[in-house]
Amino acid sequence: MGLLVKLTNTTFIRNKGEFVYLYNQVNNNERYYEKESADFINTLSKIPRQVEGAINELMILYDVDRNILEQDYFEFVKDLEKDSFVVSGSTIEELNKKEPVFTYKSWNKVSVNKKEIVNTNENAESNETAISSIIIASNELYVENLYLEITRRCNEHCVHCYIPEEQRRSGAFMPLDDAKNYLDQAKELGVWQISITGGEPFLHPQISEILEYARKKDFIISILSNLSLLKPHHIPLLKKVIPSQIQVSLYSLNAEVHDSITGLVGSFDKTMAALNMCIENDIPVQVNCPIVKQNKNDFTQVLDWAKQYGIKANTDFYIMAQTDYSLKNLENTLPKKDVKKVYSTLLKNDKELRNGIHDSFTKNNNEPLNTEQHICGAGNNTLFISATGKVSPCATWQSFELGDLKHNSLSDIYYNNSAIKKLRNIKYKNYPEVVNSTYRSFIKVCPAHNANTHKGDYKKMPTDVFENAQLQYEASKEFLNIK
Ligand SMILES: C[S@@+](CC[C@H](N)C(=O)[O-])C[C@H]1O[C@@H](n2cnc3c(N)ncnc32)[C@H](O)[C@@H]1O
Ligand code: SF4
Repeated sequence: MGLLVKLTNTTFIRNKGEFVYLYNQVNNNERYYEKESADFINTLSKIPRQVEGAINELMILYDVDRNILEQDYFEFVKDLEKDSFVVSGSTIEELNKKEPVFTYKSWNKVSVNKKEIVNTNENAESNETAISSIIIASNELYVENLYLEITRRCNEHCVHCYIPEEQRRSGAFMPLDDAKNYLDQAKELGVWQISITGGEPFLHPQISEILEYARKKDFIISILSNLSLLKPHHIPLLKKVIPSQIQVSLYSLNAEVHDSITGLVGSFDKTMAALNMCIENDIPVQVNCPIVKQNKNDFTQVLDWAKQYGIKANTDFYIMAQTDYSLKNLENTLPKKDVKKVYSTLLKNDKELRNGIHDSFTKNNNEPLNTEQHICGAGNNTLFISATGKVSPCATWQSFELGDLKHNSLSDIYYNNSAIKKLRNIKYKNYPEVVNSTYRSFIKVCPAHNANTHKGDYKKMPTDVFENAQLQYEASKEFLNIK
């Protein structure tokens, strides 16, 4: 048998504009090629094939000596193999053995055939698709992340949740055929990543089928879950669909505190057991730990716990108002008196945040703000589909309905909807009170939060955003010793 070659299971190819992109989710390696020189790339797929067959195909396109083409193709394969985009070998077993796999023992390294490849990509730790920055910079319309809310129903009752309790109790399940149809449409649209979310996605009776279909469609898959319903039988499924990450909500290492936020006694034990099960089985998780008044003294322990496994932990006290305009969940936000202390702790723990804030006081302080900057990617590079097929710009802005997939296609909504076009034009200049504020580096402008706070008016900023920004500004000056 001659030499076989295949794209690795964790490599994804996307076409956009003039370019063909390759991305590997295990080590965050990326490449892009101009489309006209992508003939070699087009010979590759996740199904193993004979190198000879690929060369035969190329011989039809190129009028060159076969030996030269063979040499070029072997070099091309060797070069891609170095960064784990492809594997080559004489047998399927050899290819399988060489597949890059995520492992907690070497978060920033990938074990390939017993050889450790050190990842040099700076974005590796953040586990974000580095490629998106190139796409965003190209100014092309592109959905990087499509949130598929497969159910709004949830087994927990988190005090801060943006989904109203009533909807979490009785929310519908997205029918499997609808989910498949939306994934087909997402594929046509060229969506980069699918984020399966809820409510609690593991409540959906057909989550396995939905995940398997998303894998069949070759999406990068991310899952957002409280993981309290994860059972050992889910592990083979997760191994098969290879999510790039599961974002898990963990609020404290103290069971009582965690459970007081989720409103479900025993939820901590279940989530923690599931997290350990994922770690033992090398399934990549990321922790999300919003800070509310109940866990204001506990979140650092969550960060420390995550650090020991090299797990990324996101934490923030910015809580989005509920989608029904009731403002009920905001009763649990961090009290003003604690903002400075909590923010100083975040600065101490997060080097990236600390450096960014330091730069905003020193390097960027005198630079005028680019008021033509876009506020956020909602409706631009993110979209959300609800369990009943309603499309909105993001999960927290469900009141801003862009269309219904029962009547419109995803592509029609994305390219032609007049409201989404208007949304794409929201820039900093539409928020003069932010542009003119001394604390502007600390002000998070979120049209969805604005809208949820002010009965749909996304241009109206809540006053506490400015108050919190001032407290963060003061905490930073003290922490960084800036006069
Ligand atoms: C809506 S949940 C859906 C997935 C799953 N049920 C979970 O809790 O992970 C996704 C994430 O959003 C966070 N979240 C919920 N409501 C929020 C809010 N109002 N503001 C900020 N984050 C919120 C949750 O803590 C969770 O980490
Ligand atoms: S945050 Fe997640 S787990 Fe908590 S109530 Fe909302 S959907 Fe459920």
